[in-house]
Amino acid sequence: MFLVTGGTGTLGRHVIPLLREAGAEVRILTRQTIPGHLTGDLETGLGLDEALDGVDTVLHLAGSPKNDEQKAAHLVRAAGRARKPHIVYVSVVGCERIPVTSAIDRGMFGYFQRKRAAEVVIAESGLPWTTLRATQFHDLTWKVAEAAAKLPVLPALAGVRFQPVETAEVARHLVELALGGPAGMRPDLAGPRVYPMAELFRIWLHATGHRRVVLPVRAVGGAYQAVRDGGVLPGPDADLGAVTWEDYLKVRTSR
Ligand SMILES: NC(=O)c1ccc[n+]([C@@H]2O[C@H](COP(=O)([O-])OP(=O)(O)OC[C@H]3O[C@@H](n4cnc5c(N)ncnc54)[C@H](OP(=O)(O)O)[C@@H]3O)[C@@H](O)[C@H]2O)c1
Repeated sequence: MFLVTGGTGTLGRHVIPLLREAGAEVRILTRQTIPGHLTGDLETGLGLDEALDGVDTVLHLAGSPKNDEQKAAHLVRAAGRARKPHIVYVSVVGCERIPVTSAIDRGMFGYFQRKRAAEVVIAESGLPWTTLRATQFHDLTWKVAEAAAKLPVLPALAGVRFQPVETAEVARHLVELALGGPAGMRPDLAGPRVYPMAELFRIWLHATGHRRVVLPVRAVGGAYQAVRDGGVLPGPDADLGAVTWEDYLKVRTSR
């Protein structure tokens, strides 16, 4: 039995059909009340014992801007009381490289610190585990561009580069890992190309027919400096997907 946390999310919606196609029996945890899903909350621990009952593998995809360490802690505690399943976790590339030492760092890049803390909770849980760090999903990059385009100019962090990845490719890797045994920390997973943030926005503007100026903005703090130094780019042994930002936009804008 597989338990998927975050099965209702952007990544989870790609993962669930792949698991089912592979013949897996799948249970989905959500805070919502959805027929055929289990209701629970990783932040409070509610419903987790029931969710983990009889589970051999957990794909832990649930995430939010806050409290991912706490979610991981509740999950591993409940898993330890159950069958001690294999935990497959999705984290973010660079989370161990972005120093978060001030309120400004925390406000802008605290997410990375929380993902790293959640990784540690899982790795030190005594449970079998596998962690895959992915770069920013194309779906997220779209959301960020769309939100920024509500402003008269699109602010883009100066000097910052990203290597976004297709969500479906992340899902395929995670399902492969979940169908295999515990593998510890896997090589980073990223898309095929590096883009300055401003270029990601310009390509989005062109593809969606919006007319806006992209404005490079500088931030301060050690975390921003680390990101400028390539902190969110994948390591040299990374696995690279095939789908570019342009490919994704072509498909999404033709729907
Ligand atoms: N987006 C990216 O670019 C990116 C890059 C690298 C890694 N990641 C990681 O990939 C994972 C999935 O990201 P995503 O973009 O698919 O996220 P998403 O679309 O925002 O979905 C978040 C999911 O988490 C669940 N969730 C949130 N808080 C929960 C709680 N307290 N208890 C139970 N479930 C909870 C939500 O379920 P309900 O609302 O149904 O309860 C939802 O299914 C996250 O861990 C994220 O950090 C994302």
